[in-house]
Amino acid sequence: MAKAQSSFVIPIESKNNALALQVGAKKDLSTIYFGKKLTSTGEYAHVPAVYKQTSDYTGLLNSVYTPSGSRNLMEPAITVTHADGNNSLDLKYVSHKITDVKEGVKLLSVVLKDPVYAFEVTLFYQVYYNEDVIEQWTEIRHQEKGNVILHKFASANLHLKAGSYWLKQYHGDWAKEMQPEESKLTHGIKTLDTKLGTRANLFQPSVFMVSLDKPAGEDEGDILYGALEYSGNFRIDLEVDYQDNLRIIAGINNYASPYTLKTGEIFKTPAFLYTFSDLGKGAASRKLQSWARNYKLMDGKGSRLTLLNNWEATQFDFNENKLAELLKDTKKIGVDLFLLDDGWFANKYPRNDDHAGLGDWQENKKKLPNGIASLVKEAQNNEVKFGIWIEPEMVNPKSELYEKHPDWVVKEDKREEYYFRNQLVLDLSNPQVQDFVYGVVDGLFTKNPELAYIKWDCNAVIYNAHSATLKNQNHFYIEYMRGLYKVLERIRAKYPAVPMMLCSGGGGRVDYAALQYFTEFWPSDNTDPLERIFMQWEYSYFYPAISSSNHVTDWGKQPLKFRTDVAMMGKLGFDIVVSKLSENDLKFCKEAIQVYNGLKPTIWQGNQYRLANPREGSVASMLYLSADLSKGVVFNYLVSSRYDEGSKLPVRLKGLDPVRKYRLKEVNLYPGVSSALSGEQVYSGDFLMKVGFNPLLDLNRTSVVMQIEAL
Ligand code: DGJ
Repeated sequence: MAKAQSSFVIPIESKNNALALQVGAKKDLSTIYFGKKLTSTGEYAHVPAVYKQTSDYTGLLNSVYTPSGSRNLMEPAITVTHADGNNSLDLKYVSHKITDVKEGVKLLSVVLKDPVYAFEVTLFYQVYYNEDVIEQWTEIRHQEKGNVILHKFASANLHLKAGSYWLKQYHGDWAKEMQPEESKLTHGIKTLDTKLGTRANLFQPSVFMVSLDKPAGEDEGDILYGALEYSGNFRIDLEVDYQDNLRIIAGINNYASPYTLKTGEIFKTPAFLYTFSDLGKGAASRKLQSWARNYKLMDGKGSRLTLLNNWEATQFDFNENKLAELLKDTKKIGVDLFLLDDGWFANKYPRNDDHAGLGDWQENKKKLPNGIASLVKEAQNNEVKFGIWIEPEMVNPKSELYEKHPDWVVKEDKREEYYFRNQLVLDLSNPQVQDFVYGVVDGLFTKNPELAYIKWDCNAVIYNAHSATLKNQNHFYIEYMRGLYKVLERIRAKYPAVPMMLCSGGGGRVDYAALQYFTEFWPSDNTDPLERIFMQWEYSYFYPAISSSNHVTDWGKQPLKFRTDVAMMGKLGFDIVVSKLSENDLKFCKEAIQVYNGLKPTIWQGNQYRLANPREGSVASMLYLSADLSKGVVFNYLVSSRYDEGSKLPVRLKGLDPVRKYRLKEVNLYPGVSSALSGEQVYSGDFLMKVGFNPLLDLNRTSVVMQIEAL
């Protein structure tokens, strides 16, 4: 435990960066530096003196956790009503300590207390040294005589200084996930938030970037990446204040959620995650991707199963015989697993479309008279694995579950029910519902121990947010998420290894809190490969390729090769009618899976370099390079069909060893098609990075995959 001198600096350093906190003479704790680390730690203390901005009338403008109701005049990180009804809060430094969590990971905790009230906040900074990533969260507690109301309770409060700030944010809707927008932040507050409860990212995810002084490029510029590790309502305020500094306050959305904190109870916020790079977006994303694989994503360093899914191919229309054929196709095409999607359950109200049956997780006797067990067996006979779709948080009003347990459903009894995809959300704040949802998964595995994969879907948002059992309705949104995480914890305690896909009617729920439990996510129901090039590009800034489930489907107008190449850029799957493929198409798919099996270690664990941005030209190009720089693969696409379009200029590679020689070879060619690249393609890393190579894209050659090998 550090002893407080009158004024001192607490530097939080990682391999390249630093965040410096200063304890002032009056014990206010402020951020005095955020950026590239200084050579001499002693010099952080000199930073404030070199800024000559207008006065800080509050002494709190750069507070590490801005309290409200006392001197503060800006957006607060925390707002409370004390047990005696008083609304003021001040927070003074008390102590800090640093602990080693594991190799390369340290945890700094700083205790702040109100000098007047028995109210305390502890800030946590978990620093991942090599990846330059910080996870920051907060614990709030008090010893007042009576409850305290928390009106705002952020995870983190950053303070940045620059000439200007450029925000890159995302918006979307079903089939339109991860649409980027970049704009200059003007004075005042810009808020990124969601109030959807579940499927929280449908219109806006919490991931964002802020460039300092000018929009950062792929390989140059100062940039911060941020994301809240939370699957429910979030709120991120970005405030440029009158001093021209940027305050970023991120946490659970306090919308409709004033929290009653009992004496002695600890309110722990989710973590806000951030990284900084002075070398642009590419370096920042590689840091985040490797952090995710090393520490966060379930089984991030492990393997994944290629699969055949039946959703696009059959929708709800299948039976045991049809599935038996699909299992044969799974083997025929050469993937690892067959994934049975929606429609396999419910009897009184059979799940033959999306109007009925959700909640009744018994095999539909008409479609599957011999149950899932026989399908699992049939899969074994075909030497493939078997996985299954569930949506256990939801219920159709037309279901036995709804009839039996109307009080388990999120709804306002006094108001007319309002549906999203004809369904309602189950009340996960209720422990009985938590048991039920856990039981859906546990029941499937208990009856079918060989089950090898789960696709967990979540298609509805929360309307009429109300629990029949929760005493304090203001806690509903928060308790829902606590309930969900409790269930996922229980599932992972009993089934630590089974791969699970995080799906939410597409990418409506993709965040690092959920991805602790899931091996992969479903980016979007939009599998048109042209759209996916753009979407996967944006996801890749924040999530590693191994976590992105990409399926080849019949969406879009692109040829099968194009569709397959795009799906290979993450975790490959298929959702097509294999039996209807032409001989050549089938041959191509089988060979593509073999090619993918060879490339997947590099795609999953390699470093990703964005070479040509589809938003800036007609060519998209992405490189995956193994850590030892010996193996790589470049995916190249023509994203415009205008007259005479093609790759007019060479594509410059990145990250290679300049001294080594590399052989380039086109792979994944359609049967009977030979590469337009003739002769041996051997170049030095130096040449490939300074001049580049040309994939020879044109209107007849719109998708080219190049394998790279160091000689
Ligand atoms: C939405 C998912 O995103 C789809 O992939 C599919 O599983 C359907 N739900 C099934 O209802």
